[in-house]
Amino acid sequence: MKVVILAGGSGTRLFPLSRKNLPKQFLKIADNQSLFQKTIDRALKIVKSPKDIIIITNKEYIFHLKSQLREINHSEKDFHIITEPVGRNTAPAIALAVKYLTEKQEIPFDETIFISPSDHIIQPDKEFVEYVKKADELAKEGYIATFGVKPTKPETGYGYIEAGEKIRDGYKVIKFHEKPSIEKATEYLMKGNFYWNSGMFTFSIQTILEEFKNHSEEIYQMINDNSFEELLKNFDNMPDISIDYAVMEKTNKAAVIPMNITWSDVGSWDSVYEILPKDENQNVKVGKVIDIDTKNSMIIGNKRVISTIGLENLTVVETDDVILIAKQGEGQKVREVVNKIKNDK
Ligand code: GDD
Ligand code: MG
Repeated sequence: MKVVILAGGSGTRLFPLSRKNLPKQFLKIADNQSLFQKTIDRALKIVKSPKDIIIITNKEYIFHLKSQLREINHSEKDFHIITEPVGRNTAPAIALAVKYLTEKQEIPFDETIFISPSDHIIQPDKEFVEYVKKADELAKEGYIATFGVKPTKPETGYGYIEAGEKIRDGYKVIKFHEKPSIEKATEYLMKGNFYWNSGMFTFSIQTILEEFKNHSEEIYQMINDNSFEELLKNFDNMPDISIDYAVMEKTNKAAVIPMNITWSDVGSWDSVYEILPKDENQNVKVGKVIDIDTKNSMIIGNKRVISTIGLENLTVVETDDVILIAKQGEGQKVREVVNKIKNDK
């Protein structure tokens, strides 16, 4: 089994800490290891050798990537690293990694690949590795195995997996619904046979090539008509689309393995608050913070002293040039701030 780590997204939902030039995967949120570094650690527990790991990123992030590998005592030479000239989202990134494996490494089509995002927190590793083994078995039977998380709220930032007939350690998927409206998400939450898509996939090279052919003709042609080097050169001709829309919403080969472990995609300040340790007032404090009569709040400081009096349910994040003050529960709206800044430029 090979592991492909997707590390080229430009997620800005943790603005002002994450920016286009320092996206979420490279942030050190819970401790002194970034989400990307934790992903490498996890991946090493899945494969036989580091050379079975392929990291794919954007040229803009190669500096962060290499320096973070060195911080965890690895060299970029330990792994295979693919650098995309431009970001085209996850479907083209996966297609490029598959091309690299088949052409550059001459990996046979029955080899399975575990696709791992690099912007999650998953615990404990040991149980997680067992789920990946189960997914590998399904992948060998021709399924695209997904990893489902029991939904606890009508989150609109995730894909939803509608589970059907029972198979082995999971279910066949009736339908995959990427990032639904709040109304749909609320409906799915009530049903009981819907899972959040944790963003990880396992399939064989043969299955994913067939599914690109069946559902994403443009991508399939690009990988068929070009050598790996040509594909890199012509990468901006790839459609800008995620694997969730390009393949998962259309395939009938998907299966889901429900996971019963801690998983967070740390996709908003609200989910950061959920995972960080809190004091007796349920406050999360980072940096120099003086909190008086303050409850259920998260205050992340940088250089300045932050003092709060009589506050409840707030998120405060200070960086060199931006201060974010938000009501808890409104974390998804950070996107609106980022868009406003972009449009005002
Ligand atoms: N190499 C590369 N190139 N990596 C990319 C690119 C790209 O163009 N775009 C995104 N990635 C990486 C991100 O860094 C992240 O690790 C992973 O691919 C997933 O991309 P996101 O952009 O973070 O996706 P998402 O969080 O909006 O949605 C996906 O994950 C959710 C769970 O966290 C979907 O799969 C949802 O269905 C899922 O619920
Ligand atoms: Mg994500």
